[in-house]
This record gives sequence, C-alpha cells and structure tokens, in this order.
Amino acid sequence: MTPTRLGDLRISGERLWASLCETAQFGAIPGTDRGMCRITLSDEDIAVRRWFVAACEAVGMSVTTDQIGTIYARRPGSDADLAPIAIGSHLDTQPTGGRFDGILGVLAGLELVRTLHDAGITTRHPIEVINWTNEEGARFAPAMVASGVFAGEFTLDHALAQTDRDGVTLGEALARSGFAGDELPGGHRLAAHFELHIEQGPVLEAEGLEIGVVSGVQGIRWYDVTVRGQTCHAGTTPMHLRRDALHAAARLALAVDAIGRSDPGASLSTIGLFQAYPGSRNTAPGEVRLTVDLRHPQVPGLDTMEAALRRAIEALQAELRVAITLTPVWSSPPVEFDPDVLSAIAAATRRLGYSHRTMQSGAGHDSVYTARVAPTGMIFVPCEQGISHNIAENITPAQAEQGANVLLQAVLDYDRGANA
Ligand code: GLV
Ligand code: MN
Ligand code: MN
Repeated sequence: MTPTRLGDLRISGERLWASLCETAQFGAIPGTDRGMCRITLSDEDIAVRRWFVAACEAVGMSVTTDQIGTIYARRPGSDADLAPIAIGSHLDTQPTGGRFDGILGVLAGLELVRTLHDAGITTRHPIEVINWTNEEGARFAPAMVASGVFAGEFTLDHALAQTDRDGVTLGEALARSGFAGDELPGGHRLAAHFELHIEQGPVLEAEGLEIGVVSGVQGIRWYDVTVRGQTCHAGTTPMHLRRDALHAAARLALAVDAIGRSDPGASLSTIGLFQAYPGSRNTAPGEVRLTVDLRHPQVPGLDTMEAALRRAIEALQAELRVAITLTPVWSSPPVEFDPDVLSAIAAATRRLGYSHRTMQSGAGHDSVYTARVAPTGMIFVPCEQGISHNIAENITPAQAEQGANVLLQAVLDYDRGANA
C-alpha cells in the first residue's frame, strides 16, 4: 500500500462507539445514563479486562500481562528488530466516573488495530495496545502506579504493598484477579507511547475546537493528613475546652481552598477524602483523616503551595491544640512530551482538517511516566462542559471518531518515520 493510500485510511467510528457502549456494561451504575464504577481489579474491572483480551486475540494479537497486571496486546510489525509503538491508557474508572476517561484511549487502540487488520496493513513497528493497571488511584494510591513501575519511578514491591480502604493490598487484589503475569514491568522497550484521552476540562469546547495536541502535564502532589484532638461528649464539654479535630480540619479545608486560589489560572487544590472519627452524632470527633491534592504547571509553584500548607498546619496546631501530621504520598513533577510525537500528532490533525490548539493537561495520565522511557505524546478530544470524574461525563460519537483518526494517522506517520 502506498503512503498516499495510508493517508486515506480511517477507523470505523461506529465500531469504536459500539465498543465503548459494549464495555460500559461492566460497571455501569444502575439508574444513571452513563455513570460507571469500575474500580481497579474489582469484579467489573476483571470482566472488562477479559473482554479486552478476547477482542485483541480475535484480531490476531498476542496478549501478555506483567507482574502488576498491565495488559500488553501486540500486533507484529514487518521489522522484527523494532520496539513496539504503544497506544496506552486505562480501563479502570473513578467510583462515580464515566465511560470515556481512559477507556477511549484503550478502545481507540483496539479500533486502530482492527482497522489495520481489515485493510491488511502491516506497520514497520509492532503495535502494542496497553491497559495500564490502576491509573485512577481511586482504590490504590498513587494514580498511574503501574506505568510508574514500568518507568522505574516506584518499585514493584512498593506498588504491590499499597492498600485500599479495607486493607487489601494491590498484590492481593491482583492475585485474586488472575491478571498477575510473569513479565517484569518495564521489561521491554517502547519505540513511542501515544495516548488519546478526553480533555476532562472545558477549554476545547469553550473555544469550539476539535482536537488538543497535548504538550505535557502539570505537576501533582498528594498528601495524607491526620488531625488529632480529643473525642468528647457533645453535651458536657464546654466549647472553649474542646480539642475538636473536625473544627481544626474544617479550618484546614478553608486554608487548602485558599492555597488553590492563590495563583489564579495556575494553582489548584482539592480535598477529595474527608473522614471524621469515631462518627457519632453526640460525640465531638477526636480524629479526622483527609487527603490533599495540589497541582501547578511549575515546580516552584508547587513548592510555594506546599510551604503555605505547612504554615497553615502549624498555625492551626498552635491555635486549636490539635496535632496534625502531613504525609507526602506522591509527587509527579510537570512533564513535557516529545517534539517528534507531538509533530506527528499535529501533522495528522492538520491533514484531517480538524481545528486544534496546543495545551497542557491538568489531569495526570500514564503518559507522564511513559515519557521517562519512551517518546510520548497525547491527543485530547473535548468532553461535554468539561465534566469528568462524574457520572455525567460525555462525548459525541463524532468526537471519539475524530480523536481515533488523529491517533491512527499520527501512529502511521510515526511508524514510517515521517516525523521522527
Ligand atoms: C489522574 O487521573 C488525575 O488525578 O489527574
Ligand atoms: Mn484517565
Ligand atoms: Mn481519571
């Protein structure tokens, strides 16, 4: 097949959409239109993994799994010496998530291979479609843990020892799933890593654009916080004698919110988990556990935010006679993606005639870690009102199709070395 004809190749938007709808049965939240709960290595995640493996094998791909459960589905290329061009993302979701975050990237990879298969095209590089384990970080912290192990950021033992809220380790959940493989994470090279994802923010839609060429990802830091005061009787303890952990935690929540507003357009702060103990109507809580997520496009910005958080904690300890521990659990510095991969994505977008802009990602992605070991780039498509990590998350079939066609054409270009 000539390069011109390769340039005419398109994925099937209908088939891609059908796969998105079909896999949504695994973890669909009853009573919602599109809501998904497919927590890492839950029964629903195991079911979608089995579906994915079967679908990949049906188009002749060979499937392997590594020791953290990441699935690699490979289609051979014509040059046996070349490492695979990877197309990766994740099939796990938030507890009240949608059917596109991560899922679009994996299923678009499958659709790309189905398209090559139908057209009888063999690429030079093998193509590898990857489902990274535990991208969301909703069950096991941190997020993107398996791609992090692949890239050498975390050890396998550290990752497998992470526990969920019931004390189950990632290793135990993995053993139960049947998806613990033999391969060492990071045990094979990638020639490149492409990831198609929904934007998860409102910018593309607001600007009426079809595609985002993602230049990189902002920095993220996660912390566990425990506030300890004294549990006491709600009816007998005068207010001025209390050491109420919830009062202190509420004040801390206001301080965290202010930190997120301190550098408008850049700084972001979130408390996603907030739990008071012992949890009784007529007992003032003696302990509160909460999480803090800080984000900023630059490291000095993250440093300033962390310093402000530490100052707020010190002030509250002194004023309210509580003890507050701040434990950093994850730090992901800002990342810039590879210029050659980005230029393949931008060239494909232009050829397809889609309106676009370059943008930084506010969300973390597995591409953050693959960027450490392979040339990496990402493609965004808009999502409705920018809503994500929410059961209302939505895109149109046309948006999924456009993103997958950019992915296809960018991968074909990169395979031929047109931009590399
Ligand atoms: C990853 O999903 C994130 O929290 O951005
Ligand atoms: Mn995602
Ligand atoms: Mn997500």
